[in-house]
Amino acid sequence: MPTMGALHEGHLGLVREAAQRADRVIASVFVNPTQFAAHEDLGSYPRQEARDAELLAGAGCHLLFAPSVDEMYPAGATTTISVGGPAEDLEGAFRPQMFGGVALVVSKLFNQVQPDVAVFGEKDFQQLMVVRRMVRDLDIPVEIVGNPTERDGYGLALSSRNAYLSEAELEVARQLNGVLAEGAAKAGTGVSAAVIEREAEAALLGAGFDSIDYVAVRDASDLSAFEGPVDRPARILAAARIGKTRLIDNMAVPA
Ligand code: PAJ
Repeated sequence: MPTMGALHEGHLGLVREAAQRADRVIASVFVNPTQFAAHEDLGSYPRQEARDAELLAGAGCHLLFAPSVDEMYPAGATTTISVGGPAEDLEGAFRPQMFGGVALVVSKLFNQVQPDVAVFGEKDFQQLMVVRRMVRDLDIPVEIVGNPTERDGYGLALSSRNAYLSEAELEVARQLNGVLAEGAAKAGTGVSAAVIEREAEAALLGAGFDSIDYVAVRDASDLSAFEGPVDRPARILAAARIGKTRLIDNMAVPA
């Protein structure tokens, strides 16, 4: 169960799911520098290792692996992973370095731990697809399990980055899930993906988001786009900014 720490109930749900499936649960806490661009929040990413260790133990985790940057990336480490496929647009378009960095660190963790099962959150739906593709393409012998998104009482997806939000920004952030749920419901009624995306973007700007990186209705199996109406199992995904904070969320489109 790989994490970057600053753990919340979303992470702990993954620990509980892992504990259902395995005799021993190992979590990692590592703020992975290779998945951050120079202008991103690597330096300010919340770090609270002692609290994380307590939370993990309480949720049934047996071992915490919290390596240093030098341990993961010793001088002279030059190998990279080129991802492609489901990594290519959406998050990949706005954070071009991210999925290569995720693939690199996750494949290293898999080799270090050699787990039977690894649990990832649907909160990062595209990341889950990229990891599944990597495991398939590189024949890594691990079963990848996706766990549903944990939300607060307002439906806001729990995220370590929510800690950056002021009270006023939090009010705005809490509207993201409602806009996506509305778009998802509409996608089930034959409205074209493009119309749903435009309407949801307008609704998010109206709700107080400063800018929208994307709202996209995509095929749930490979993230391919729809030409017209949504006629295959689908997912609605979004990334939007409030002040300095960038939030992502996604939901299944009801069949
Ligand atoms: P991080 O953001 O810490 O997330 C660790 C895992 O927890 C991911 O699988 C993520 O999808 C899941 N998660 C986060 N918030 C969740 C929520 N509200 N509900 C359910 N699951 C949630 O994702 C990363 O770290 C990194 O990219 C990592 C995979 C560790 C590689 O560095």
